[in-house]
Amino acid sequence: MKNRVLVTGGAGFIGSHICEMYIEEGYEVLCVDNLSSGKVDNICLLLAEERFTFVEADIKDSAKMMAIFESFRPNIINHHAAQKSVVSSIEDPIYDLNINLGGLLVLLRCIQKFPIEKFIYVSSGGALSKVIEGTEKSKESDTPQLLSPYAITKYAGEKYLDIYASTYGFEYTVLRYANIYGPRQIPDGECGVVPIFVNNILANKPSVLMTYADMPKGCTRDYVYVGDVVEANRLVSEKAVNTVLNIGTGDEIAILDIYNTILDVFEKKCYDYGGRATCRRC
Ligand SMILES: NC(=O)c1ccc[n+]([C@@H]2O[C@H](COP(=O)([O-])OP(=O)(O)OC[C@H]3O[C@@H](n4cnc5c(N)ncnc54)[C@H](O)[C@@H]3O)[C@@H](O)[C@H]2O)c1
Repeated sequence: MKNRVLVTGGAGFIGSHICEMYIEEGYEVLCVDNLSSGKVDNICLLLAEERFTFVEADIKDSAKMMAIFESFRPNIINHHAAQKSVVSSIEDPIYDLNINLGGLLVLLRCIQKFPIEKFIYVSSGGALSKVIEGTEKSKESDTPQLLSPYAITKYAGEKYLDIYASTYGFEYTVLRYANIYGPRQIPDGECGVVPIFVNNILANKPSVLMTYADMPKGCTRDYVYVGDVVEANRLVSEKAVNTVLNIGTGDEIAILDIYNTILDVFEKKCYDYGGRATCRRC
């Protein structure tokens, strides 16, 4: 037996792939998820595994989390549970604060009583990066920009973790993800552009893409396949780095190129479905 890892948000898009990796690597895994956006379907194959346990719980429930720590005694925490929408964080900053920071603080309280060895905390590269002008590129050395409640709570979490890791003697790694795509991704929100396009193209429905005078192919993002993110989690579970790592490709991909790539994959052409990628100029 390698290690006991507690995965929060393990029934979600990325978390479920992380749980699969840990099982393949020989870990004992306890997945905590309140199923607010995650699904049991995402982990249904894992439920048959002896080394996998699923507990439906809210990470904000400190009594329940303390009981989970007491019985499971994890040595690694892999923290993926969060509300992940920048827009929702602006609409309801208290909800964002309670989950993204309050939930983390519950875990840190549990660790004070039941020590761990490593903590992997998922933050956001996109939400913390600065607004780019012209041909400028984001740099890892840029000072994080806190332009939304989501960015503030994710960044505050990084800082809390740093303090508690040195005070309570555990190692940690912060992974700042770029835009992740892959199987089980929910087709909504700011990050869900790939499944939104896939669903529209397969259903022969047009998609609306926003373009701008200085961005004729629409906005650009750094898109990372979920399998690469899983590999990053595998590596930092073996060896923590006690700092922040950005997980991205470094490549800027325009939204129209994503759309055209998906069309190619499904061997479709715009005129196949009577509609087209409607580019709306702003
Ligand atoms: N998807 C991306 O491109 C992206 C980019 C940057 C960072 N992230 C971060 O990665 C993590 C996973 O994101 P995802 O895209 O897999 O989203 P997701 O919504 O599929 O996963 C989040 C999971 O957390 C669970 N959850 C939410 N609140 C909870 C609570 N209070 N208690 C217990 N479980 C709770 C949800 O049910 C869900 O299963 C998040 O921390 C998100 O901020 C994602």
